[in-house]
Amino acid sequence: MADERYCFLVEWYDGMASLIRRYHFMFYTRDNSVEMFDIKNNRLFLKRTKCDGVGLGHLYIGATLDLFSRQINFIDYGDDFTKQRLSQQKERTLGIIKPDAINKVGQILDAVFQSGFKVTKLKMCRLTRNEAFSFYQEHQSKTFFDTLINFMTSGPVVAFELMGTNAISQWRELIGPTDSAEARKSAPISLRARFGKDNTQNAIHGSDSVQSAAREVEFFFPSTMGPLRQNTAKYTDCTCCVIKPHAVAAGNAGKIISAIMDAGFEVSCMQMFHMEKANTEEFYEVYKGVAQEYNAMVMELTSGPCIALEVRAQNAPIAFREMTGPADPEIARHLRPRTLRALYGIDKVKNAVHCTDLPEDGLLEIEYFFKVLDR
Ligand code: RTP
Ligand code: MG
Repeated sequence: MADERYCFLVEWYDGMASLIRRYHFMFYTRDNSVEMFDIKNNRLFLKRTKCDGVGLGHLYIGATLDLFSRQINFIDYGDDFTKQRLSQQKERTLGIIKPDAINKVGQILDAVFQSGFKVTKLKMCRLTRNEAFSFYQEHQSKTFFDTLINFMTSGPVVAFELMGTNAISQWRELIGPTDSAEARKSAPISLRARFGKDNTQNAIHGSDSVQSAAREVEFFFPSTMGPLRQNTAKYTDCTCCVIKPHAVAAGNAGKIISAIMDAGFEVSCMQMFHMEKANTEEFYEVYKGVAQEYNAMVMELTSGPCIALEVRAQNAPIAFREMTGPADPEIARHLRPRTLRALYGIDKVKNAVHCTDLPEDGLLEIEYFFKVLDR
């Protein structure tokens, strides 16, 4: 295989120095090796090192990569070769599940995953009027503007970034025409036909151009210093569920969320996280020296994006543990075949979901994700 070299501009937030550091990141296809060059100090930062978990598919503008316990953000292409080779293939776009369809979030996300899109960012938020104004500024002069603002601020939304070939047009095709009634006529399998109500309450949003996609992704997922959108965590009667990276990668997150809601739990907050090793060790601290699989658990949770959920109910930690099932999916399949781990788990480490163990930790774990990590 030819040894092609791809080059990106990347950033790493150095928490110790409170500095954003910039590098040129080189990826060599022949042996999946990586090399990093410190731009400011003009010197080699990481000599060419083989990284088996890293492939060209992980590398695109907007990607986050966990490398040697550092979270590396991909900001731009680093040379013309890389730009020409990669920019045409992958596009990103922004999708929103609007307030009218929030109780269908599991089914809609399932459709997203099954259509082959890669979800690279995701967050449940509730827009203020000012935020909705700013998001929809292009429609300010339209007759439906007030109705639209009232609608979009009437409840939580779930915003997500999608990556894929021609993602912008593919996503618009999957969601269908603006008017849900029209969608039912001309595109009956589209998401707006299935989940929308009318011309305004049409369940889903999709960016309409490369420029709006960039602006809209930045609005919900600011790259550096932009204002954060407030998450919807409630911090009462809650427990923490984390859909593990293997289950997200297998496209099972939508089904898992549907199952949780169908069982009567409220999913009041959700967000995708790219966990760093240090944070994961902190989160799993109680298992250190106790669980035999501790190291493997840390590896799994840092291996790709996970989705954290605030799950609410009376006695949420205990009730939700019941639904999660035994830690070992093999045992779960024998004893409790309808539990989440029986259905979506592979082994004791890749067991589909983390759920809070001790009732008194439910709130702490929710605070860890939605107050500490969502900063
Ligand atoms: P979106 O931006 O949400 O993906 O939808 P779109 O491009 O298909 O439609 P657009 O023209 O951008 O309108 C934005 C949203 O405004 C609401 N709308 N109401 N006549 C009406 O009552 C009307 N027209 C549009 C819809 O929620 C639409 O998605
Ligand atoms: Mg639009």
